[in-house]
Amino acid sequence: MNSDQHILVTGGAGYIGAHTVVELLSAGYKVTVVDTLERSEYRMIEGIESITGIRVDFHKIDCLDFVALDTLFAANDFSAVIHFAAYKSVNESVVKPLEYYNNNLGSLLSVLEVMKKHHVQDIIFSSSCTVYGQPDQIQVDESAPFKTAESPYGSTKQLCEHILKDVATDGFRVISLRYFNPIGAHPSAMIGELPIGVPNNLVPYVTQTAAGVRDKLTVFGNDYNTLDGSCVRDFIHVSDVASAHVKAIDYLNQQQKGNLFDAYNLGTGQGVSVLQLVKKFIEVTGVKLPYTIGSRRPGDVEKVYADPSKINKAFGWSTTYDLGQSLIHAWQWEKKIRNLKGI
Ligand code: UFG
Repeated sequence: MNSDQHILVTGGAGYIGAHTVVELLSAGYKVTVVDTLERSEYRMIEGIESITGIRVDFHKIDCLDFVALDTLFAANDFSAVIHFAAYKSVNESVVKPLEYYNNNLGSLLSVLEVMKKHHVQDIIFSSSCTVYGQPDQIQVDESAPFKTAESPYGSTKQLCEHILKDVATDGFRVISLRYFNPIGAHPSAMIGELPIGVPNNLVPYVTQTAAGVRDKLTVFGNDYNTLDGSCVRDFIHVSDVASAHVKAIDYLNQQQKGNLFDAYNLGTGQGVSVLQLVKKFIEVTGVKLPYTIGSRRPGDVEKVYADPSKINKAFGWSTTYDLGQSLIHAWQWEKKIRNLKGI
């Protein structure tokens, strides 16, 4: 049991945050969640409580609000922070770059300031494979350089990593987890992804189409240099992403005190094309999924998937769900939130 350790999770009502809170509570950690609920819903907190049977210590706090964070830190003895709170839409970041820089950089700086003031050293940061831009190596490892980011959102993730690397010399111990494509939902269907408006991401679009909310899926391009012409990605179950955060905390606990910055890819290591995913969804759910081939989406990388050997070795972590299970869980969640029965 790790009940003597108290973890602050920012953005803990969000998609990956909520799944991570479930894994932390299940591993015996004490958890406090802060979230603005600006882009998430309180029902995620209720879902966490239903799964774990544990009441969540939740505070509606914006990480930009240093005073509110300061008060929270003064009242609690946090041993580490997992920082998810950020805006994450690639498209929106192109339209509202200033909001993305303000929110994503500002909230990290505020969290680091309050941690420093209260002598909390350990932080796990929610990064993205977008930091690599279009990497030279398709199966990318952590030594790949940061190329020009594809969007202001991508730039914020690169800049946050630069900030974290710099502050690591100032008493922090940092682990940055570079997510590939998290998909799926908790196997209980109590928590999952809640996209705002028309989804940009593939799997929510697939499940909404299967549910009849969208007419058809458009596959963005079938003329790429890939096995079937569609883009290739590394789709990873969100609960596997979540469990890696618990392993990261465990890992920090085993290290000597002292400065640390390390970044890890968080993916399966398997490249899957968009069309392969679509066919897999139809196969495992038995549901109709109308789709058409459209033109390429600007800014899309042709193919990228993780070399996860660094995280596999360091944390003793590996994935437990395959693509079919991830898609079944995504579909069960979609059916639950739409009240669909019998399909
Ligand atoms: N796609 C479609 N149709 C859709 C939606 C997506 O064909 O309706 C395709 C995309 O063109 C892409 C693939 O499905 O080839 C995956 O697209 P997503 O939008 O689901 O994911 P991305 O790989 O574009 O983006 C993800 C994260 C970002 C992160 C990026 C880094 O969502 O946060 O990886 O590469 F920045």
